[in-house]
Amino acid sequence: MSALINFSYIVAAILFIFGLKMLSSADTARRGNMVSATGMLIAILATLLSEGMSYHWILVGLLVGGSIGAFAAKTVKMTSMPEMVALFNGFGGIASLLVGWAEFHAHRGSATFTLVAIALAVLIGGITFSGSLIAYAKLAEKMDGKPLLFSGQQVVNAGLLAAAVLFIILFAASGNAYGILIALIFLALALGVLAVIPIGGADMPVVIALLNSYSGLAACAAGFVILNNVLIVAGALVGASGLILTTIMCKAMNRSLANVLFSGFGSAQSGATAGYQGEARPVSVDDAYYILEAARSVVFVPGYGMAVAQAQHVVRELGELLEANGAEVKYAIHPVAGRMPGHMNVLLAEASVPYEQLVVPEDVNPIMSTVDVAIVIGANDVVNPAAREDENSPLWGMPIINVDHARTCIVCKRSLNPGFAGVDNPLFFKENNRMLFGDAKKSFQGLVAAFKDG
Ligand code: TAP
Repeated sequence: MSALINFSYIVAAILFIFGLKMLSSADTARRGNMVSATGMLIAILATLLSEGMSYHWILVGLLVGGSIGAFAAKTVKMTSMPEMVALFNGFGGIASLLVGWAEFHAHRGSATFTLVAIALAVLIGGITFSGSLIAYAKLAEKMDGKPLLFSGQQVVNAGLLAAAVLFIILFAASGNAYGILIALIFLALALGVLAVIPIGGADMPVVIALLNSYSGLAACAAGFVILNNVLIVAGALVGASGLILTTIMCKAMNRSLANVLFSGFGSAQSGATAGYQGEARPVSVDDAYYILEAARSVVFVPGYGMAVAQAQHVVRELGELLEANGAEVKYAIHPVAGRMPGHMNVLLAEASVPYEQLVVPEDVNPIMSTVDVAIVIGANDVVNPAAREDENSPLWGMPIINVDHARTCIVCKRSLNPGFAGVDNPLFFKENNRMLFGDAKKSFQGLVAAFKDG
């Protein structure tokens, strides 16, 4: 029986890895999800068969957790996905903490190896749990989203981390010190809060990816506690992929992870750069229609505002009308546009925009000067030329989509307000830029109607 169960675990682990690989392309992503989910089903069934356990509690957990999960997934708004992911990471963390804690009770006086694994599951799980709750509260605007800084913050955090390491050593050496375990739990919860409060605004998605990685590491540690191979493998995979995602995001913003975690980005508004002077030229829907009607090449650049306005379907409709009018249409996707990885890709795929029309900044920037119209739909930071032009800008060095290099740029948003990073945008005052003020969906509906009326 145990050979069969271990074999099932290997099959599950292979399915996880293939599923993850398939997620890297839009064509195979859906199937990749199914492959991974099948792996998880096999892992769960094998685990349930592996020991003589009382199934009624498992059934209760399945019913309660499954119903809450299904309800949350059905009702969550697309723009609230980061908050939901934050909560899920937190639940993963607390689950690992509880596994470690419960195992300590079940097998008091365990071997040093198990005690270290318990301590790590409790520490990383606790940090993930409280850190994720803070991240959730910030994203859901239940607390101020700005970085919360105080003097000596990094010293305090480093001190707490050192104390945690000391507690783990003492706990493992003592063999049975319940008091130390409880102290470690409190320490972990405090560390999670203190590690996330200095991070805010546009850096929150990075923190969510990092906490996702932590939740995987906590699960991996819990796997070592209960010696469950598939939990060790799955936890390690989540830990590694979360870290890779974190690195990709940092690279897309041209920042180091240390800078994201410790610099308090966005705490002081871009004082040095705020207040770019000039005249923003508004354009009406009718005039924007005439500009687009004459265009032979158009690049759409979607951002968070498109998600808020749920404008993806009408954007695709306009794209089709432009193509029918003889224009070449592309959609340029910045890796950190929106609020979560792949946010824009998901929305455009939902609206059936052909995958071949999506381009990345590296491919579109070199040809931007040949583009007749770049039309920005609720994006802001990812098209901010201050990243290229203003050394004092907090965005300095971040790769952006150079929409200002197009012959004409049209920015569709409701005001001149800054984006997530809180940094003013000189694009709005450029000679070749026009502001199409208003809700993205309404403006695009107007443009579609204008095209249809000819
Ligand atoms: P933002 O810079 O946040 O700008 C979005 C703009 O959408 C706002 O300025 C807002 O302007 C506009 N908007 C809101 N509702 C709208 C509506 N109904 N209709 C039209 N416009 C609307 O978005 P972005 O350019 O996508 O940049 C993403 C930000 O997230 C960056 O700062 C990036 O560094 C950060 N970030 C993202 C990720 C991931 S994975 N996506 C990871 C790390 C960091 P108005 O209020 O004037 O309308």
